[in-house]
Amino acid sequence: MPAIDFKVIKQDGTTAARLGSLTTPHGTIATPIFMPVGTQATVKAMTPEELREVGAQIILANTYHLYIRPGHELVGRLGGLHEFMHWPGPILTDSGGFQVFSLGELRKITEDGVRFQSHLDGSYHFISPENAMAIQEALGGDIIMCFDECPPYPSEYAYVEKSLGLTTRWARRCKESHARTDQALFGIVQGGMHRELRERSAAELMEIGFDGYALGGLSVGEEKELMYEVMGYCAPVLPVDQPRYVMGIGAPEDLIEGIHAGFDMFDCVMPTRNARNGMLFTSFGRVNIKGAAYAEDRSPLDPECGCYVCKNYSRAYLRHLYRSGEILASRLNTWHNLHYYLNLMTQAREAIGAGRFGEFRKEFYAKRFSL
Ligand code: GUN
Ligand code: ZN
Repeated sequence: MPAIDFKVIKQDGTTAARLGSLTTPHGTIATPIFMPVGTQATVKAMTPEELREVGAQIILANTYHLYIRPGHELVGRLGGLHEFMHWPGPILTDSGGFQVFSLGELRKITEDGVRFQSHLDGSYHFISPENAMAIQEALGGDIIMCFDECPPYPSEYAYVEKSLGLTTRWARRCKESHARTDQALFGIVQGGMHRELRERSAAELMEIGFDGYALGGLSVGEEKELMYEVMGYCAPVLPVDQPRYVMGIGAPEDLIEGIHAGFDMFDCVMPTRNARNGMLFTSFGRVNIKGAAYAEDRSPLDPECGCYVCKNYSRAYLRHLYRSGEILASRLNTWHNLHYYLNLMTQAREAIGAGRFGEFRKEFYAKRFSL
């Protein structure tokens, strides 16, 4: 029995968007879905109960960070991530590839794996496809990711081609060493902004066979149009009956475009990180809550939002909390931003269910830029 079961419930009338249901060992998720990022086994500023309240169905945690601290073996001894962090729902762990590559000078890539220095204390470590699997098995997520190389952007075609070969060989080693049958393993399509390389990467991964497929190497500094183009030609070459995930995106409009292209899962630090910087997402566009214009503004942050924050607090108060550096500013801002993202996904699913995602997408843009 595969660890997960994915069903497409409805295909949108005029776009590639699809409504799905993804069953994991820790519960069933309605797709398309956004996964809040809990890098260090916590979605910053929110308890699991609060995550449930804002509508989170699945969260993401990072292999690299948890390997460095407190250590995957310790998390394993304490019963795995679900028990450790008191989140009973589905969890996806990223493989650490992306985080390790972000270390720049501190890492060295070989056929065998990546040698790197900890960002905490400079100590030396080595992650191979095999121990990326062992680490993720100890963490115990429902969905785990292959160890991949995310080439920087821009990179020479020859480099991207070589890199994707390595990603395929690593993916094969991941599949061969992955032992837990109660965890799904997803492949990660690389290939930069080159259609031919993306298609080759997807074909090679599908040949190996995974429980789902992700697009990596996006939102690395390329123009949005280019990212949308890559999503547009990659979705159709991936299996229709398996989950499709775009890693590390994005802004609300990026999710709308990803869904439009036929993707089911997304994750990004944007709603949580921006919240802590006072940047809030609303149905009519972005609000920088520190603005003087809100000093005496009694209105809710987003009059169309039904979240706890918008029901109970004024823009003036949120501005004051932020300017005063209060902990509650981070909590309330994160609360609202996650609610906004997750509610956008709920609305997208309803639109697909009604066969009107194309219109929904138009309304989304018309409203956001109405200010
Ligand atoms: N998160 C965002 N992009 C990537 C990627 O290319 N690879 C991995 N493993 N994680 C990511
Ligand atoms: Zn709100």
